[in-house]
Amino acid sequence: MKKKFKFKKSVKVFFFVLLVVGICFVAYNVIMNNDKDNNYNEGFGNNQNTDKIDETLLTLGYSEEDISVLKANLSDSEISSLDMYDDNVISFVSNKYFNFNNLERYITYSKNNNYDVDEIITHVNINIDKPFYSEIKTIEDPSNLLVLCNKYNALPSDYEPEDLTEVGSSGIYMRKEAAENMYQMVLAAESAELNVNLVSGYRSYDYQVDLYQRHVRERGQEEADRVSARAGHSEHQTGLAMDLSNDWSLEKYFEDTELFEWLSENDYKYGFILRYPKDKEYLTGYDYEPWHYRYVGVEVATVIHEEDITYEEYVMKYLTTN
Ligand code: DAL
Ligand code: ZN
Repeated sequence: MKKKFKFKKSVKVFFFVLLVVGICFVAYNVIMNNDKDNNYNEGFGNNQNTDKIDETLLTLGYSEEDISVLKANLSDSEISSLDMYDDNVISFVSNKYFNFNNLERYITYSKNNNYDVDEIITHVNINIDKPFYSEIKTIEDPSNLLVLCNKYNALPSDYEPEDLTEVGSSGIYMRKEAAENMYQMVLAAESAELNVNLVSGYRSYDYQVDLYQRHVRERGQEEADRVSARAGHSEHQTGLAMDLSNDWSLEKYFEDTELFEWLSENDYKYGFILRYPKDKEYLTGYDYEPWHYRYVGVEVATVIHEEDITYEEYVMKYLTTN
């Protein structure tokens, strides 16, 4: 009896294990089949869309390889609205500062110039594919310390900073933060036994109207535009700019002075940048001005100093969102 019972138990265990294995097998297959179905359905939906987009892009002239670059860099809606082919599109979209809204301008600009892709993207993003003063935006937040005031961005004619402060006892004014830093910079330059003259700081809109007109009368408009801002476009109206000299004059030879050399090494430590550097007229819109310094704060000035870029390029790289 005892032996018989033992045998029966083994048989039961055997069938139980078989049942468990069987259930697991069936469950596994059901799950795998479901997964396959899901993948197939997803794939099917996607494939339909993808096929249509790929077909359009292939018809436009893009290769399979181009299409994967486009997909990696553009949003779905951007890809769907891409309706032209150009040899440079792939290099443009791969650029860090590419802005889809400017695509046609990049293409047009590249046809008229021999610049490389980085330059094309930078120039167009800065707007210099358009003539100076051709499309002017009114600056919405003129009291922002990082305001970009140039030939495309104008200050409201009635803008006057609220915190104008005299720099030391010079009779020259700047925005408070700029004035304090300018004062410290002048003290430091004087400690290095350099003579510093503050020639021109804050200038009102009306003052700039007269100044610009005087330049036009003396040199004609084209030349005046290279050296003087039209009213509303001068950084001096922001209260963040200062013209410095060692002999009260504002001339190119300032670049050969010890003061200029000292400023080139130290201005950024006080938050100032040389706003209209040599050979950058095509970006800034103004002839080289070794005397014109703009306050942007130490952090920004340090980046500009290290990267050796203009303020236009800084704004394009770090302050512009597409
Ligand atoms: N000279 C500079 C550009 C100005 O007039 O503001
Ligand atoms: Zn100036």
